Amino acid sequence: MVRNVAGEIAELEEEDFYLLSGVEQGMRFSEYVNREKLPEFARLTPEEVDYRLDRCERRGLVERKTIQYEGYRLTFEGYDALALHTFAERETIEGVGAPLGVGKESDVYEVRSYRPHALKFHREGYTEFREVNREREYTADREHVSWMYTARKAAERENDALETLYPTVSVPQPVDQNRHAIVMERIDGVELERSRLDSQQVLPVLELILDEMALAYEEGYVHADMSEYNVFINSDGVTVFDWPQAVPTDHENSDELLRRDVENIVGYFERKYPGQADDVDVDGIAAAIPTGAFDAIDEFVE
Ligand SMILES: Nc1ncnc2c1ncn2[C@@H]1O[C@H](COP(=O)(O)OP(=O)(O)OP(=O)(O)O)[C@@H](O)[C@H]1O
Ligand SMILES: [Mg+2]
Repeated sequence: MVRNVAGEIAELEEEDFYLLSGVEQGMRFSEYVNREKLPEFARLTPEEVDYRLDRCERRGLVERKTIQYEGYRLTFEGYDALALHTFAERETIEGVGAPLGVGKESDVYEVRSYRPHALKFHREGYTEFREVNREREYTADREHVSWMYTARKAAERENDALETLYPTVSVPQPVDQNRHAIVMERIDGVELERSRLDSQQVLPVLELILDEMALAYEEGYVHADMSEYNVFINSDGVTVFDWPQAVPTDHENSDELLRRDVENIVGYFERKYPGQADDVDVDGIAAAIPTGAFDAIDEFVE
């Protein structure tokens, strides 16, 4: 887990952010930014750069490496600080609260605003970013691929999907996006995985989820990471979240990914509620959704 920098942000001064964004600028060209180039990138005097570097390094916001030259790069915490600073300037958020969830590829916090929101920092690329790049199609066409780029692309993709899908599909309302972070509506509820449904709710809830998948398809997206961990359930129904890997329906693999999504979610119901969600026709549903022919689950249960 990446350290929460929200507390430290308050201690930072405007010039510290100049320095951080200077390092960010320089990282477009090399992984470590030559110290000698920082005054130009950060628009600070060399003396200011020395002073700010020291402050930021002590707080773990930048990292130094001496190879052929003395270079600096942002840490994920430094990148977080820049995104938080931008959200605060735009008055999107007023403060960061408790963690809502920690995933392999994200950290999610509650944030204060005019109403509670959720802030998701994407971490794709933090560990083993080469693996991630191979599996997903985020990058590839860049010689110098950084984790910053990978994580930012993931946040942009997720935000784009939410903007397209909301409010037709039950997804968190998107509020703002910057760098590798998105701010969205905070959803109350529990993950499907942690819920226990009464027997008469099993098929209706499965139907609700499949309905959302069908609506998303109509709006042009396949989720492509559908699971019991990415659906919230509460008394109002279901909300599908975690969309960075969503694939447009005109993508060549979209129907295959749709089938896998249907299989994942139906498989979960079959395993968790044996006898109540058996004999669901996965192929039939996966074929019906793209043609708009999915209406009721009854038609697809033996
Ligand atoms: N809008 C939201 N409102 C409330 N909680 C949220 C929201 N979005 C995400 N969370 C919480 O944060 C967790 C991680 O979010 P998400 O699934 O989007 O990221 P992830 O990177 O896929 O995590 P993982 O790798 O574990 O699947 C969720 O399981 C959920 O508990
Ligand atoms: Mg998830």
